[in-house]
Order: sequence, then structure tokens, then C-alpha cells
Amino acid sequence: MKSIYLDNAATTQVDKKVVEAMLPYFSEKYGNASSHHLKGQEAKRVLEESRSIIARSISAKDDEIIFTSSGTESNNFALKGLFFANKDNGKNHIITTKIEHDCVLNSCKWLESQGAKVSYLDVDEKGFVNPTDVENTITPETFLVSIIHGNNEIGTIQDIEAIGRICKEKGVLFHIDACQSYTKTKIHVNKQNLDLVTLNAHKIHGPKGIGALFIRKDIKIIPLFHGGGHEKNLRSGTENIPAIVGFAKAVKLAKERDINYVINLRDKFIQGILEIPNTNLNGLKEKRLCNNINVCFNNIEGEAIGGYLDAYGICSSTGSACSSNSLESSHVLKAIGKTDLQINTSIRLSLSKFNTEEEIDYVLKILNKIVEKLRRISPIK
Ligand SMILES: Cc1ncc(COP(=O)(O)O)c(C=O)c1O
Repeated sequence: MKSIYLDNAATTQVDKKVVEAMLPYFSEKYGNASSHHLKGQEAKRVLEESRSIIARSISAKDDEIIFTSSGTESNNFALKGLFFANKDNGKNHIITTKIEHDCVLNSCKWLESQGAKVSYLDVDEKGFVNPTDVENTITPETFLVSIIHGNNEIGTIQDIEAIGRICKEKGVLFHIDACQSYTKTKIHVNKQNLDLVTLNAHKIHGPKGIGALFIRKDIKIIPLFHGGGHEKNLRSGTENIPAIVGFAKAVKLAKERDINYVINLRDKFIQGILEIPNTNLNGLKEKRLCNNINVCFNNIEGEAIGGYLDAYGICSSTGSACSSNSLESSHVLKAIGKTDLQINTSIRLSLSKFNTEEEIDYVLKILNKIVEKLRRISPIK
């Protein structure tokens, strides 16, 4: 049975061209970028070329990009590193939202145990943060506003221009978690007044276990890892050259692909799903990540739909992969005001450039069948 992968918000298939680009760096080009000999210098060269590709993609300077092991690490570093750099100046207040990825929410929770004050902003029923709320929450103690750019569950793209302007005016640092939005929507660190940006590779057909953090020049941040002083003393640990090469290749390939292809697939898919009776789209159709669909199939368990889809070889998700081990219902759907019943009857389907129109037609056919069957036997009326 052919598998149809509709869980690209969790991770993506690594592009074959990315694998090809990485392979030599596991075999003949295995040098350590800190070594002075030829092999080391070869690694150093490709490390800096890759850094430059990633920097240019968000209009940053090369030396403003630090490689990390993941989006999770970049977010931890941004939040904790800035807290430790600011706490002695009487600045201990962070503003974030209720719809962040767990790695931000749990870092904030931990920081609260270290003396941080954190404001978790509400979002509206479509998942948008009101920039005025950000402005009104800033106090003289605020050092950071940290906002998820494109939401991993419902795809909402926040108005980072407006929030960036406010942060700049108020002299507060602005960090975005762009793991889901990177290469899908424009990021320009100067035009959008961004001070820190979290990126990773595995959401864009790159390898897992590699991330980056843009840190605007001259921002004071305390490193979390101490060692040989790699990455400008900000993140010690031998650089993962194969993964970094793969990351840069994925960014290059993302530039070449036609984003409208995925948008058209998404819109066709949404339209087809909404033709199934008693379904609603979670979030707004506009200002939405090009690959995200999150739908509520009233009266049937999302888990049951997912199970049936899986039996047909179709991979979907009932929420964020990172929290799907827990039985707690989605904090994001809760934050947009969904009831437990609505949350438990929702599923996320996320696309990539590798999906086809035929796949969508097939999945729609299967979904109609599954929903009809499950509604017939559902105890929830
Ligand atoms: C919005 C967002 N932030 C952070 C992460 C964590 O990234 P990583 O899987 O590279 O640790 C993810 C991945 O699920 C994500 O979707």
C-alpha cells in the first residue's frame, strides 16, 4: 500500500537532493571545522557558506546566525540566554502567548521558577494575537516579547510587523519562533524589527537535529553550553557539518519551489473537506501557513479518523507531534475557545511540495467514507 504523508507540520521527507549534498560530509569530507589542516578548513568553508545562505534567506548578516541542534534548543537559548543576560538589570518580564510550541511554554514555566514573570497573552477565536495587547502588557521590567510566527497546529500567521514596530518603539527585544513559517512566508529581520529568530531544517525537507538562531548583533545573551567556544562562544560543541550542509541545501531548494502549488492543493483540500456535512475549519483560511489544514469533524473522535486514515496508509495528526504522547487536549485549540468535544473531534492535515492532486482526491474520497461510517456509529449526537 502506498503511503500518503499528510503530517508535514510534524516533519517532512528529506529531499533527495539534500541527502546527496550531505553524503560527502559523512565520508570523505569529515573534517572538524575547528581543525587547522586541509580537511578542517574544507569543513570550515562549507560551514560559513551554509551560514551565509541561511543568513541571506532572512536578510541577516552572516555573523548573526548561530547553529544549534534544533528548534527546541534555539527557543530555549533565546528565552533562557536573554533572561540570564537581563535579570540583574531589574528586567525579568517576558511576554508570550498561550499558543506557543511546548518548548517555549515549558521554558517559560521553568524560567518562572528562576524568578521570571511571564505574561501568556490570549488570542482571538481564529488564533491571532492582538498587537495592542502586546503593547499594553509591556512594563518597565519587560525585556522580551516571544511570539510563534506560524502556528504548528492551526497555521495562523501572526502580524509580526505590527508587533515588531511596538517592540522597537518600547525598546523591548522581539523573538519569533519561525520553525513552521520559515521559507513559507517572508522573514526580513530588519523590515520586521526582529531581534532573534528560531529556525530549523526538518520542517523544510532538511535533516532533523539541526537548527539555527538569528541573534541581532550586539545583543547580550548568556550561552547555555560551555566548551570549546564554537559559534562565537555562544554555543560550544563541534558543528554538525553534514546536517548544516543539508539545512542550507533545503533552504536553497525552498527558494526554487512554487509556493502556489502547495497553496492551491491546500485550498482544494479545505474546500473538499468542508463539503463533508458538519465540518469546520479551525483558524482562518487567510493568513494561514500554505500547508496547514486543521478541521473539526463534529461528533467523531479525531483519533478514530486518524486510526482509519492510518489503515489506508494516510498519515495525519490530532495535534502537535511533540505533545501527542500526552493525553491532554490541545492547548492551542483550547486557547481559541474550542470545547473539549470540538478539540477531540479535530485533526490536522499538513501538506508539502511532495503531495499531489491525485493524493488529495483519494484522501477526500476515503475521508467521506470514514466520516459517514463513524457518524453512523458515533455515540455523540
Ligand atoms: C513552532 C515550532 N517550534 C519549535 C519546534 C521544535 O523544533 P525541533 O523539532 O527542531 O526541536 C517545532 C517542531 O515541532 C515547531 O513546530
